[in-house]
Amino acid sequence: MSGSQATTGQATTDGDLAQVLASAVDRRRNFAIISHPDAGKTTLTEKLLLYGGAIQQAGAVKARGEQRKVTSDWMELEKQRGISITSTVLQFDYGTTTINLLDTPGHQDFSEDTYRTLAAADNAVMLEDAAKGLEPQTRKLFEVCRMRKIPIFTFINKMDRPGREPLMLLDEIESELGLTPWAVNWPIGSGEQFRGVIDRRTKEVVLFSRAERGKQANEQRLSLDDPALRELVEEELLDLAVEEMEFLEAAGAELDIEMVHAGELTPVFFGSAMTNFGVRPFLDAFLEMAQRPIARSSSDGLVDPLREGFSGFVFKLQANMDPRHRDRVAFVRVCSGRFEKDMTVKHARTGKAIRLSRPQKLFGQDRAVVEDAYPGDVIGLNNPGMFSIGDTLYVGSKVEYEGIPCFSPEIFSWLRNPNPSAFKNFRKGVNELREEGAVQILYDTDESKRDPILAAVGQLQLEVVQHRLENEYGVETRLEPLGFQVARWINGGWAELEKVGRIFNCKTVRDAWNRPVLLFKNEWNLNQLREDHPDLELSSVAPVVSGVEPISL
Ligand code: G4P
Repeated sequence: MSGSQATTGQATTDGDLAQVLASAVDRRRNFAIISHPDAGKTTLTEKLLLYGGAIQQAGAVKARGEQRKVTSDWMELEKQRGISITSTVLQFDYGTTTINLLDTPGHQDFSEDTYRTLAAADNAVMLEDAAKGLEPQTRKLFEVCRMRKIPIFTFINKMDRPGREPLMLLDEIESELGLTPWAVNWPIGSGEQFRGVIDRRTKEVVLFSRAERGKQANEQRLSLDDPALRELVEEELLDLAVEEMEFLEAAGAELDIEMVHAGELTPVFFGSAMTNFGVRPFLDAFLEMAQRPIARSSSDGLVDPLREGFSGFVFKLQANMDPRHRDRVAFVRVCSGRFEKDMTVKHARTGKAIRLSRPQKLFGQDRAVVEDAYPGDVIGLNNPGMFSIGDTLYVGSKVEYEGIPCFSPEIFSWLRNPNPSAFKNFRKGVNELREEGAVQILYDTDESKRDPILAAVGQLQLEVVQHRLENEYGVETRLEPLGFQVARWINGGWAELEKVGRIFNCKTVRDAWNRPVLLFKNEWNLNQLREDHPDLELSSVAPVVSGVEPISL
């Protein structure tokens, strides 16, 4: 199933290991897709997996059992297409490359995990619907990528349908995201008149022919100056495409790979995932330009993936992923060294030594025990409650990764415990679930209001917390929505807030590190505050706090 099999644990000397590690890192590419629901992420994923031969390879094409619950977009894919590709990460080989595709849940399961996944990604594919351009969820995810300076590759999808002007789509990326777009290919027509794309680097035209829905369209290739082209494509469509391309050349940006890796320039591809048009050229170009697993920031500076000792961090925890197993899995992004089964690692937060005897690689319903893994890979560890989001595991000299910040929640609800005799369990559950990172907990500034406020990015997150409180801690709780939708931290803390004096149309609460958080009913109220108090610096992401005990219930 994975490329790691080719490099499985035969290294006997340090020199061998270094070589095996270097070659594994060199071969790996890791990415996540950022998009808004319905842009075509599932369709694109499916096509990429088919190219990688991953679906057949993993033996995962199978009828879907009725008993499974939808908890991820990929599960949704299973439901729709009757195939099984559910996972937090999909690893597959394509040519000589081992690709790790990280899932960014986006539909009803959009949650803080979606943002956190980007902490484990080295590259992102920004998928847009050609008719819609940038959409809200894409923008939010883009902000997280920008914060981490992740290289972004843009795929403009659904070119077989009427869409917006390609130049306008590029302009939107530039003006609204501040990201320089560089079109790698350029479309000839769109919608009913979509005729194909011109590769700007080779000046080759790839013609599109409408295939039966869902089937792969033919890709006929011709040189741009081939006279036969004019017989196949209407003159005015071709002339317009060439004119627009000349305009792009005149605009002068270069496809500068360093700028791509710095997250400042995005290579843009036009295509159609459903008809499988332009997907393979996109994959090839992406693999050529994408970043290898990168060095990561830790308390001791950057940690190179080639560092001999294994290290990695937990970016996602999942409870009861499969109702039949009732297990809890901690997903670890490998950052350096080689991970091996049965390895004993140090848990940086507690200093405890842990033997990792049942590491898993999940692919659909198949759970393979991982023998080894390399930087850029993700492993699933059985989690009997000792791991929290952001925890570092390492071998050798101590490494502690930066941790994963808190992302702006969008749903806020009082969590009520109607049964006072269950308070002890209620308190234990709330504190533990907060520590694990399942949900953010906010507190009223009025200390007489003791009940915690659950703050989450998606509704499903709240439901999971309630469900777990009931099943794991035996407390039935009640949610009481607060009616806010936007949260912002104040960069200067309480002192800055006091300077501003009384503010209107928002509620001030405290997070678990006693930082002030402002809650707004909508973006409009937030913008109003910005206008009234331009000096107040607000942030939609709060950094990790270390060395300070959080407020517990
Ligand atoms: P998502 O995971 O981003 O939410 O999107 P998904 O792939 O499920 O695609 C959303 C809809 O867009 C699907 O249609 C899908 O077939 C369609 N789609 C994806 N890529 C293209 C494309 O290149 N061209 C066109 N014309 N449509 C595309 P649906 O009707 O919702 O579902 P289905 O009945 O096709 O499965």
